[in-house]
Amino acid sequence: MPSTLAFDVYGTLIDTHGVVSALRPMVGDKAQAFSQAWRDKQLEYAFRRGLMQNYVDFATCTRQALDFTSTSSGAGLSDEQKLELLAMYRRLPAFADVRDALATLRDDGLRMYAFSNGSEAAVGALLEAAGIANFFVGIVSVDALRSFKPNPAVYSYFLRRSGAVGADAWLISSNAFDVIGAMSSGMRGAWLQRSPDAIFDPWEFEPTVTLHSLADLGQRITDCQARP
Ligand code: 2OP
Repeated sequence: MPSTLAFDVYGTLIDTHGVVSALRPMVGDKAQAFSQAWRDKQLEYAFRRGLMQNYVDFATCTRQALDFTSTSSGAGLSDEQKLELLAMYRRLPAFADVRDALATLRDDGLRMYAFSNGSEAAVGALLEAAGIANFFVGIVSVDALRSFKPNPAVYSYFLRRSGAVGADAWLISSNAFDVIGAMSSGMRGAWLQRSPDAIFDPWEFEPTVTLHSLADLGQRITDCQARP
């Protein structure tokens, strides 16, 4: 059975900081910090909604996090500016290493899924716009469970949907919380360290592999399978 790969989407395949160029005319040299604060708040809202069992979809978390960040940063964006940013968020670019790495992995026979907090429709449109949709055998969205990563139910749901068993299934993510969530549910975890400043949480979990580029993923999986 070939390995089954569950690719996280936002931050792993797709660059959430693709909005920085649009933010610059709006908030000047605070654009990068604004983008980071927006992303952090979006994830916080997803965590809280999951814990509260009071679900709204990820696009709503994104929109409400933008409203919060606009106020907390003092930017006071207009409704028009927010709509422009949210439209960009639906068409964020893929990272530079993604297309070639996915093509190689697909040619090597790996079964690849996009596995995301985003709804199936939102992720499908994002992957299409980035020109990488055809690499995946399917999209698995947490939306079906009305919860968010890292609820263990969503990783079990991924395994059921893909037909994979824990040790043959890899979660590939730049989000340490996602890697830890998947490993806690019996999957293997590849942490993609997208920035040298990114830190893996110092918990009792260590990623099965740590990558600095998606290009290395296939070889690292082969190495792991060769080990007794
Ligand atoms: C995703 O599920 C966690 O944002 C991340 O795509």
